Amino acid sequence: MTERKKITLPSLFQKVAQGDPITMLTCYDFPTAFFQEQAGIDMILVGDSLGMTVLGYDTTLPVTMADMIRHSQAVRRGSPTSWLVGDMPYMSYQPSVESAIRNAGRFMAEAFCDAIKLEGGAEMADRMAGIVAAGIPAMGHLGLTPQSASALGGFKVQGRGAAQAKKIMDDAKALEGAGAFAILLEMVPDRVCKLITERAENCFIISLGAGPDAHGQLLIFHDMFGLFPKFKPKMAKVYGDAGKVILEGLKNYASEVHNGSFPQPENWFKIKDQEYDELLDLLD
Ligand code: KIV
Repeated sequence: MTERKKITLPSLFQKVAQGDPITMLTCYDFPTAFFQEQAGIDMILVGDSLGMTVLGYDTTLPVTMADMIRHSQAVRRGSPTSWLVGDMPYMSYQPSVESAIRNAGRFMAEAFCDAIKLEGGAEMADRMAGIVAAGIPAMGHLGLTPQSASALGGFKVQGRGAAQAKKIMDDAKALEGAGAFAILLEMVPDRVCKLITERAENCFIISLGAGPDAHGQLLIFHDMFGLFPKFKPKMAKVYGDAGKVILEGLKNYASEVHNGSFPQPENWFKIKDQEYDELLDLLD
């Protein structure tokens, strides 16, 4: 296991102050969390994107609190020292401030997360403020917010027009005013992200397809390694084709079982001759 000290909110802000970019990835399971821990990733998001990447839904909307808690627990077991952010699923915070605080608390108490993330701007500032007032660090999410994809007209870049960009900037300020420690900007034009980053005073900005000028970067793990077969978003960079390796391995396995070259003696277990003879006697 790593020797790394626990990442804390002060240590993240220290990185920001030093101009050291923050690394953040999505993660949904124990082995991947273990590797991300070894790689020294600062922040891990147990995203409700797991609904698409792991559970095979077409959107994130069917994801439940139970799904999120179970996956967050597994990730925490694999990565004890990262700053772990639990993503609040659809309708776990939209109905009321009370529901938002209660469900945010579950991520902390049941999955040992360090923080939560929720989607939305000024209209969610009261949920954000309530969660922060309950002592739970909270991260905002602006730009393309997948839980509102229907209202946004699909999975599209947000803030290309000046008026929409200004709204995103105002939303960022509203979330910062509500106490967000960080804001994720997803699929927002680079220069809009730069303006928001320059104006952030008490929070830091993480980019997902929003350019290089944020305080940190986020990628979806499954996009990085060819593990999401349906499509590859433009902003994703592929660092290795694990999907191809897995598919080739599966085909080899199937053909070896068919042609009898698997299993070999090293793949099974033996019983001693004497025990086997005794067994035969017992059967007689
Ligand atoms: O659920 C998720 O993984 C997210 C990303 C799109 C950042 O919110």
